[in-house]
Amino acid sequence: MTLSVLDHALARHLLAELRDRRTQPEAFRRILGRLGALLAMEALRRLPETPRRIETPLEPMDHPVLAAPVPALVPILRAGLGLLEGAMTVLPEAPIGHVGLMRNEETLRPAEYLRRLPHDLPARGALLLDPMLATGGSASAAIGVLKEAGAARIALLVAVAAPEGAARIAAAHPDVPVLAAALDRGLNGQGYILPGLGDAGDRCFGTE
Ligand code: PRP
Ligand code: URA
Repeated sequence: MTLSVLDHALARHLLAELRDRRTQPEAFRRILGRLGALLAMEALRRLPETPRRIETPLEPMDHPVLAAPVPALVPILRAGLGLLEGAMTVLPEAPIGHVGLMRNEETLRPAEYLRRLPHDLPARGALLLDPMLATGGSASAAIGVLKEAGAARIALLVAVAAPEGAARIAAAHPDVPVLAAALDRGLNGQGYILPGLGDAGDRCFGTE
């Protein structure tokens, strides 16, 4: 199984606010951004390191530094933009790619409408951002886009995962770790996560 669930009291607190139907778009975006920062911090915990000789004002020493360029941040539009806000504060030097996908409400299949990615994904890999992993169709397609661009290391960061989506990523992309702030019960007949938080894109941008 490629799924890990973030064990963090603040993440759980933020999720409660996101799930609350009364939370309005301005607050929803702010909270999602904070969750994006927590998820990014956790995902970056085990970046490869290498020793570097440095000199403090008092003496030289060997100190661990990052062995490779930091991963690019790639939100899946639209709702991934909410997580991006916070992830950018953790990794301001990261280039940002965009993958635009829209799930067809009847077939639940994603249709791609935008792809703009940094050129050096093979060297740096990517953190793929989307608050919702429901059927897993959108995330699976976006991972495919990143792999086509040559990204070697990819991690998927989500706020809420459904077991169906997690299983789909594990089957289609077993090399891609998934980090979620919560693993929910399952999907309803319309492909919405239960208990979930509703339509993340609409709640982020006030288009309900
Ligand atoms: C939502 C969400 C994911 C996708 C998840 O996006 O942000 O991208 O659905 O569903 P899946 O796992 O079944 O593919 P949506 O297509 O509604 O677009 P939006 O972000 O523009 O609202
Ligand atoms: N997309 C959302 O925004 N919410 C869900 O519950 C499922 C897919």
